[in-house]
Amino acid sequence: MLEVQIAAPGRLEVAEVAEPDPGPGEVLLQLHSVGICGGDVSLFKGTNAIARYPAVPGHECVAEVLAVPEGSALRPGDHVVVYPTFSCGVCRACQAGHSNRCSQMRVFGLSAPGGCCAERFTLPEAHCLPLPSGMADFVGALVEPVAVGCHVVDRGGVVDGDTALVIGSGSIGMATAMVARARGVARVLFADVHDARQRVVEECGFSDFTTAQGEDLVSWVRELVGGVDLVYDTVTVDATAATASELLNGGGRYVAIAAAKPDHRLTLSYEHFYGKELAVVACRNYRRDDFTAAIGMIAEGSVDPRPLRTAVHALSNSSTALDELVHRARDNVKVLLTRADLLDSSPLLTGGTR
Ligand SMILES: NC(=O)c1ccc[n+]([C@@H]2O[C@H](COP(=O)([O-])OP(=O)(O)OC[C@H]3O[C@@H](n4cnc5c(N)ncnc54)[C@H](O)[C@@H]3O)[C@@H](O)[C@H]2O)c1
Ligand SMILES: [Zn+2]
Ligand SMILES: [Zn+2]
Repeated sequence: MLEVQIAAPGRLEVAEVAEPDPGPGEVLLQLHSVGICGGDVSLFKGTNAIARYPAVPGHECVAEVLAVPEGSALRPGDHVVVYPTFSCGVCRACQAGHSNRCSQMRVFGLSAPGGCCAERFTLPEAHCLPLPSGMADFVGALVEPVAVGCHVVDRGGVVDGDTALVIGSGSIGMATAMVARARGVARVLFADVHDARQRVVEECGFSDFTTAQGEDLVSWVRELVGGVDLVYDTVTVDATAATASELLNGGGRYVAIAAAKPDHRLTLSYEHFYGKELAVVACRNYRRDDFTAAIGMIAEGSVDPRPLRTAVHALSNSSTALDELVHRARDNVKVLLTRADLLDSSPLLTGGTR
């Protein structure tokens, strides 16, 4: 079977390897679809702080169950979404249900051995969350960014009628906005440096988008809504934090989302944070219940992440897919990989770039 391997930074190959053998308590899974995110790109480039080599990438994944351990609640043929984080289970954060705050947390396909970019792979049953029938073909691996969105929106809180600004309109900004809207945020505005993002923003059912930055962005938001109650900042640098602190209404929440780099610092205007009693909330990954919430929202139709998919490739074509993301980042939101035999199996997986 095929497996994507990154032997060292910059060295990706699709190798023919032996079939995996599930250990006790493990489920044998067959890939349905796996999303490539910034984390995978940095794993490939060698700029990911938590990466270990050699690596099999892939953590945003939906797969079909092929074989289950004894006593399992899963059945062959079921589809599951991968819950990719492993935490220690015994520290204070884990005991309190915040496994995403565990200092030992590892991510399958990034910092823990193994990954989802393979035709088949194994995972402990606790990391396989069942999907309702038909959902795999409908949204595939796009469940994962929605789970991130669920966590982010929970962290920021929503008061009915809130307004929000998303800075950085990529997959996470968009998934967050869709969850926020479903949970009662009345209006979401979007900023990005690339105008190509406007189309996807509109496909997700939003209409307010700008490429303005800094003071121009402040003026644009002021004209449209005065100020906002939430800023979802997927860029999270001093400049975007400065814009946020100007635009937030009293009692507003600055929601910091970008994955922190080692020694990543952020300067905040204490004058604004004090004067308007603003809160700053950071968001790290997700918990299992964020996946359950994401599955529920997709099932009830309040969130439809399909517009995020901008290209699909067969696993054997992984290096082209990665290349596209490295060199044509602005044209792609979420690139999915799938098995060659599934490429034309559903509208979601029909290959090619939109
Ligand atoms: N907190 C978490 O749990 C979590 C989970 C997943 C991803 N992330 C992080 O969230 C961030 C966004 O992820 P993504 O997958 O949406 O990435 P993405 O590349 O799809 O989107 C980022 C967008 O920000 C835009 N951008 C860059 N600089 C900008 C600026 N100064 N002003 C406005 N827009 C700007 C880019 O053009 C791009 O469209 C990344 O840092 C990622 O690591 C965090
Ligand atoms: Zn990811
Ligand atoms: Zn722990």
